[in-house]
Amino acid sequence: MASNLSKIAVLVSGSGTNLQKIIDDTKSGRVAGQVALIVSDREDAYALERGKTQGIPSFYIRKDPDRLLEVLKEHQIELIVLAGYLSILEIEIVDKYPNRIINIHPSLIPKYCGKGFYGIHVHSAVIKAGEQFSGATVHFVDKGIDTGPIILQQQIAVLQGDTPQSLQKRVLEVEHEILPKAINFVIESWGREQS
Ligand code: GRF
Repeated sequence: MASNLSKIAVLVSGSGTNLQKIIDDTKSGRVAGQVALIVSDREDAYALERGKTQGIPSFYIRKDPDRLLEVLKEHQIELIVLAGYLSILEIEIVDKYPNRIINIHPSLIPKYCGKGFYGIHVHSAVIKAGEQFSGATVHFVDKGIDTGPIILQQQIAVLQGDTPQSLQKRVLEVEHEILPKAINFVIESWGREQS
């Protein structure tokens, strides 16, 4: 049965816990879309296994924007979600999908983002600076690094005795909460544009 659900591509590099949450929420109907494509820039990313287990077309593509554009087109992708994707998306892709690419970042942008701020490095810097709060941000991807318009942000307290690892774990839980919500916001906004 041809599905009229919005077709989502998820770009990953690691374990894919954000990807898994999107898959689960699209299957339950909480997210108004379907994961039609998964692409990783790391051949050994467990996220690729998660896709294959679900029968979702999953590809290893690295530094090959032409090939990436080809599979995005082939799978009629309408929304690209960067979920723990560590490469900088090539400008050809950003240009081709204006306001159709979103990224999840594990800090309260504009703090602790940009070059070098990824994974555990973000949380180490937050702890080192003695911040009282941290959190996660979903934003549109533009030509900068972590600089596009913010869609959704949620903060949490940094606890006494938090280590970068314990903070990362709690921030990841926030990511799992706000990424599906942000996907719904964006997809619903398309409907408002047409009406
Ligand atoms: C995590 O560090 C997360 O904060 C960031 O990407 C990394 C991997 O997430 N967004 P995932 O488990 O691969 O979704």
